[in-house]
Amino acid sequence: MTQHIHDVTTNGRAGQITSADLIARDREVVSPAIYRYTEIAFARGEGVFLYDFEGNRYYDMAAGIATMNVGHCHPRVVRAIADQAATLIHAASHVGYMAPYVEMVETLRSLMPAPLNAGKALLVNSGSEAVESALKLARAVTGRSMVLAFIDGFHGRPMGALAATGSSSSYRRHLGGLLSGVEHVPYPNCGRCAFGHGPREPQNCCGQWRAFIQMVLDKLVHPDDLAAVIVEPIAGEGGYIVPPDDFLPFLRELCDRTGALLIADEVQTGLGRTGRWFAFEHSGVVPDVVALGKAIGGGLPLGGIVARADLMNRWWPAAHGSTFGGNPVACRAGLETIAIMQEENLPENAVRVGARLMRGFEAARAGLPMIGDVRGRGLMVAVDLVDEHGQPISTERVKQVIKSLAKHGVVMTKCGPSALRFAPALILTEQQADEVVALVVEALKAVG
Ligand SMILES: Cc1ncc(COP(=O)(O)O)c(C=O)c1O
Repeated sequence: MTQHIHDVTTNGRAGQITSADLIARDREVVSPAIYRYTEIAFARGEGVFLYDFEGNRYYDMAAGIATMNVGHCHPRVVRAIADQAATLIHAASHVGYMAPYVEMVETLRSLMPAPLNAGKALLVNSGSEAVESALKLARAVTGRSMVLAFIDGFHGRPMGALAATGSSSSYRRHLGGLLSGVEHVPYPNCGRCAFGHGPREPQNCCGQWRAFIQMVLDKLVHPDDLAAVIVEPIAGEGGYIVPPDDFLPFLRELCDRTGALLIADEVQTGLGRTGRWFAFEHSGVVPDVVALGKAIGGGLPLGGIVARADLMNRWWPAAHGSTFGGNPVACRAGLETIAIMQEENLPENAVRVGARLMRGFEAARAGLPMIGDVRGRGLMVAVDLVDEHGQPISTERVKQVIKSLAKHGVVMTKCGPSALRFAPALILTEQQADEVVALVVEALKAVG
């Protein structure tokens, strides 16, 4: 393979970077709290590919964790960033008004159905911050304190968002005393039913999650105290769990009945990944507040919430904000990303290519019993790995498999306890999807 050793100057050291050297330096200085799914050092990215410092190419199925919707370093996004950087890098939304901020809010709400298309928004720096903004808004405007969240749900790691996260106790280890007032109920996970039923399709769901929610309202959380229900329309980190069709309508009705706000966490599902601009659109219900992050910044840090205007209008001046929230460079990168997605109809491509990926893995299952449940929507695809008895393999083993996949030229993360997570750029072609399936199958055969 061609060797491209990069001549660079970093941190005052002139010279060449090799992957091994960079990884060794990283280990010396970066906290081990940051887990790495691969042992690859990324030198550059282009489209659906990442390259290491030796020039090796990898299919990027992580896409910056479901973020780089138009691929790495799209020339139009690069130009938009450079143009904005040459014009205004930062001035802060608390100090005055900025065109990229206003245009981003106008664009986000224009993608939403009524009444959110006439709603109001504010911008922050990340998905977690968006979630915390949504929770603050809900508490502030309802005057209530309690929040219903879901086991298998993921909303971020800072201590407010973490209080709503229920996908792994490891995120909460030694962190007692998180934001109070959050009660968790099981997400309808028909593949691993919390109520002891065997795996089944969501349309044949046992439905006991409804009785459980009612029990929590009867015994723990008085409906008059319920400020919000926060939910991912498809559980992401928790395992790409597609819930039954009546799940969001049930929650909508519960919120209407109790006066709580329905918060859709679309940080991962939003912006076209599932085939619609927002995954709640598959359900026919409209939430009161939508939390956004990841793809909306085109690869730069940006988050935000869009909410009904009547709710936002009750939030008083200076109730919330942040120094960098809605940074003009991040907004321009996001706006250009959305423009490209619209011109190229990428949500539709996500449906087509996602189906192709799923069909590929389902077909491969016959010769490869390690492939268990294959599920998802659009380009959110999970492939469960199972042992010879059909039981999920351990999380540690999945992590090892992901490390060995990198040796076959595919970069990815996991979701849920035992699934490979495919969340590539939405520009992936069907032919590339076939190549990815072939590489993953080859790697799985090698690990046995
Ligand atoms: C659904 C969901 N909400 C919130 C977050 C937190 O976003 P961030 O990591 O940008 O803070 C994530 C991140 O993976 C997510 O998937």
